[in-house]
This record gives sequence, structure tokens and C-alpha cells, in this order.
Amino acid sequence: MKKIEVIGSSNVDTTLHVKDFPKPGETINASEVTIAGGGKGANQAIAAAKSGADVKFISRIGEDSFGEFMMKQLKSYGVSTDYVETTTGEDTGHAYITLNENGQNNIIIDHGANYLLNSTDVTAASDLIGDIDAVIAQFETPLEATITAFRIAKKQGAVTILNPAPAISDIPVQLLELTDLITPNETESAVITGIPINNEHNLKNNAAKLHELGIPNVVITYGDKGSYISTSKIEKLVPPFKVQATDTTGAGDTFIGYLASKLKNDFSNIEQAAIFASRASSIAVQRLGAQPSIPTVNEVNELMESK
Ligand code: RIB
Repeated sequence: MKKIEVIGSSNVDTTLHVKDFPKPGETINASEVTIAGGGKGANQAIAAAKSGADVKFISRIGEDSFGEFMMKQLKSYGVSTDYVETTTGEDTGHAYITLNENGQNNIIIDHGANYLLNSTDVTAASDLIGDIDAVIAQFETPLEATITAFRIAKKQGAVTILNPAPAISDIPVQLLELTDLITPNETESAVITGIPINNEHNLKNNAAKLHELGIPNVVITYGDKGSYISTSKIEKLVPPFKVQATDTTGAGDTFIGYLASKLKNDFSNIEQAAIFASRASSIAVQRLGAQPSIPTVNEVNELMESK
């Protein structure tokens, strides 16, 4: 069984369902309000666990009922919460999501305890966790903690996977040098490289720039147009599984959790892993919420067999 460590955020997602996004200065009514588990770190940990990996999650929650809710969610999906720390006097991270009728969203995050995750947490957890195959991180928790996690992972010979979301333009060089695989979406990639993406040629240029920055393996997710893979052995746009999206929240996280879980450490099966991950996220976009939308591996296998 693949052993994966995820370091990252835990958020409770409050989603306001609206017909259209409000314009500046406009007041509108929500047709419904729903609450679900979220946070890019927690979502990716759950996706990896649902796909069959042994997942340890390093995160911080607040000392509140939302923190208790998050712990229950993670446990119910089979993620180890031994390294999810409750932070005295802090609130659990919260994401406020507006979801329109076309399944598009806007997200504003109140980071809460997520920003207190630090290198000491990571080192202490890593000492206890022992050997792993891969570590995944995002940008909803402090960079110093991620750099520490990647350093430890590299010493162990594990693969490091960076999902640079939310995007930042000035990723520290030390983090880039420690990254084996980067998985931005097209917007995040453009922020990092400075090259806007509106066609396949731009995808190629973006991947080339990411290689130039020192990252050997690149997967750029390109929404309903698929995912662009670029390694020393393969460079291609993997077509998507076309479906009607209801809610894209957490679909990218589903892709990354599944990709990490299926990927061999020498990257030799990256295309097959991306196809499997893309099928998993095609199921997620047809369901509401981040964590509730992540499919089980049996659901993904059934769909793989049916096409
Ligand atoms: O990627 C989706 C996630 O982003 C949501 O679950 C929300 O919590 C934000 O972190």
C-alpha cells in the first residue's frame, strides 16, 4: 500500500448557493447554505485515502466545534489524524464559498489555525511517521513548514509533490529545488511563470518554464480541457472525461490525491495515473461540496471499466 504524507490546511466550507455572483455593491439572496469539510490539504488527504493509500495528515485545527467536526470527517474517510493538532485559542480555518448555477465558485479563506503550522510540528510528526513514498503540500499553510517536510522527504528518498494553490508568484528557490512534481492549474501556472495560458502552445511554454525553474515533472490541470503532462519521457495533453459540472470545489484536490496515490515513484506511469485521477475528478464535479464529492476507488474503477 502506498504511504503518503499530506501537509496542509483543514477548513470548514460554508457554501452560499446563488444564481449569479453578486456585483460590487450588490446584495443578493442565497437559495441554500451548506456546510462541509474542506481545505486543500484535508481534501487531498481524503482523496488519497479513498483511492487506497495509507495517509498521514499533518495539519492544525482550532479549539472549537468546527475542529471537532473536521477530526470526525478525516477519521471517517480513513485518514490518520495522529498529527492533526488542536491549537488552543485559535479558530479552525474556514472557507466562504459562493457557488453559482453553472457550478463555478469564488472562495475566500479565513485561515485560522492553518497559519500556525510550523517546522517543529512537521519534524516531530515526520520522526514518528517514519518512511513514506510521497509527500504532498499546498500553499494554505506556511512555506517554512512545507520546506521542512520536503527536506525530510528527500532525505528518505520520497517523492515531493507541490500543489501551488492558492498561487504565489515568488516561490522560494529552495522549495522549487526540493520539488519533484508540481501540479498547478492553468491560472496558478501562469502566475508562477508569467505566461498566460489560452492554448496548448502556452501549456508547453509554461511547462518548459517550470522545468527551467528546476522542477523535473509537471502536470498542469486545464479544467474541462484535460491535464498537460511534461516529464523527460512524455509531453502531452491528456484529454478530459467530459461531464456537466455541478460544483467544481475540491475537484482539483481529488485529482491530486488520486494522482499521488496511483503514481509510481519513477513516474513511469504518469499518463495512466493522470487518466485515473481525471476520471476521479470528473465524478467529483458532478456532486456538491469538497469532501462529500470525492469518489471511492470502486466508483472510479467502475467508470474506468465502462468506457
Ligand atoms: O480546493 C478547494 C478548497 O479550497 C476548499 O475546500 C476550500 O476549503 C479551500 O481551501
